[in-house]
Amino acid sequence: MERTSHHVVVAGGLGYTGSFITKRLLDEGLRVTALTAHPSRPLPLRDRVTVAPFAFDDPEALRESLRGASVLYTTYWVRFDRGDVSFAGAIENTKTLLRCAREAGIERVVHLSVTNPSADSKLPYYRGKALVEQAVIESGLSYAIIRPTLIFALGDILLNNIAWMLRRFPVFALFGDGKYLVQPVSAEDVAEIAVRAASDGRAAVLDAAGPETFTFSDLVGLIRSAVGSRAAVLGVPPTVALIPAALIGCLLGDVVVTRDEVTGLMTNLLVSGEPPRGRARFTEWVAANGQHLGRQYASELTRHFRQQSG
Ligand SMILES: NC(=O)c1ccc[n+]([C@@H]2O[C@H](COP(=O)([O-])OP(=O)(O)OC[C@H]3O[C@@H](n4cnc5c(N)ncnc54)[C@H](OP(=O)(O)O)[C@@H]3O)[C@@H](O)[C@H]2O)c1
Repeated sequence: MERTSHHVVVAGGLGYTGSFITKRLLDEGLRVTALTAHPSRPLPLRDRVTVAPFAFDDPEALRESLRGASVLYTTYWVRFDRGDVSFAGAIENTKTLLRCAREAGIERVVHLSVTNPSADSKLPYYRGKALVEQAVIESGLSYAIIRPTLIFALGDILLNNIAWMLRRFPVFALFGDGKYLVQPVSAEDVAEIAVRAASDGRAAVLDAAGPETFTFSDLVGLIRSAVGSRAAVLGVPPTVALIPAALIGCLLGDVVVTRDEVTGLMTNLLVSGEPPRGRARFTEWVAANGQHLGRQYASELTRHFRQQSG
């Protein structure tokens, strides 16, 4: 479907997955405005886009950033409640963003959610995602909702930090027996699926999942081989495995993983029931990129919760 403007907005356009969407759009010759929580952070794509703050508390400024654009891509979300940051706040902020988008004349929103969101979920991440999807559907905008599984690329936090631990410690503690499933999808494929969904005019809700499904234990094994680790991988009760994760978090000033994230992982929520739309194979990617994975720890708190980092 032909859009009326070559200007698009990516909320989170300098972030992890958002930067793949931004790059894909720039490669198509579109003009991109990236909304970000860290407008002054020196990130690779920032010289090629217009950068604007989220400005959730200043709807007029937010509307101004959106005005004249045809499509809004939204990746904005938070990993956990901490300090002033909360799932409840992120839901309200997304509603503000959607309202401003409609008022600014945006034609279509492409929203990144997650596989298996549910308004009945005990996990605030998945429950919040379902509530935001509902807000997208009720926004009055033409929409596509993309539900990724676990997204892989250099720059990811979870996979990188598994590699970091496998490189540094003699033992890696798996949560439980590690037999639960994951179906990783590449960030390039998510970007491709999202951009394709923008050019369609129909309401759509699509999973974005890769072509391979593994047990979590096999996924850790693939990373272990790729980084040349000799760590023993042991299955231990999740509450026990959370202890070293919490200790590492204390030492590094980060939250390595939350109990809710472990529950989400162990209940197969990062798997799709639809035919895979992603093409890149995690096995090939991890073998080719093992040398780069886990060289440095990737901190969620530095990236998203500490203002002094830009
Ligand atoms: N990563 C995955 O494996 C995965 C899997 C399934 C679904 N998803 C979904 O896909 C979308 C993109 O995920 P991502 O991992 O690529 O996200 P991300 O880039 O790390 O963050 C997305 C956006 O949210 C903002 N944000 C994140 N935490 C924040 C906080 N504490 N306070 C304020 N703003 C915050 C980021 O701010 P900045 O602009 O400052 O970076 C960025 O604009 C999200 O909706 C996520 O739920 C991700």
